[in-house]
Amino acid sequence: MIRVLFVCLGNICRSPMGEFMLKDLVAREGLADRFLIASAGTSAEEEGNAVYPPARAELARHGISCAGKRARKLTVRDYSENDYILAMEGRNIAAMLRIFGGDPQGKVFRLLDFSSRPRDIADPWYTGNFSLTFADIEEGIEAFLQYLRKMKKV
Ligand code: 4NP
Repeated sequence: MIRVLFVCLGNICRSPMGEFMLKDLVAREGLADRFLIASAGTSAEEEGNAVYPPARAELARHGISCAGKRARKLTVRDYSENDYILAMEGRNIAAMLRIFGGDPQGKVFRLLDFSSRPRDIADPWYTGNFSLTFADIEEGIEAFLQYLRKMKKV
């Protein structure tokens, strides 16, 4: 089983989009039973809240549901309980390393570092552009799946 955790700041926009988009992608590829996919935030600010409505609407436009998801804060146990911990932006990595106390097993990655154009995922909280965030995440998860294939993990 490949355990993947997406991480952003609030766990109401980017990381739940990543969670449900990767679930959708691996289902379409017939790989759903090989993965456990979840998301969390480095801040407790939005704890318990549902996915932010414009993010939910963007997913729905692509036929993806995020029903039932509630924001939760990243915990120190998330490190041992996951294989790939995928940050939406560099700032999330700094915050995660403080919570985990480092990354001794090399599990922490910035999602778009798997792509040919390494960068942060566009933050829709400030831009309001959820379709750009969707496109960035799509590029990231496709590159991540390609990486897993290259590494013979799937
Ligand atoms: P997320 O978006 O980290 O993608 O879930 C944000 C959610 C909340 C805030 C910022 C970004 N905030 O400042 O409360």
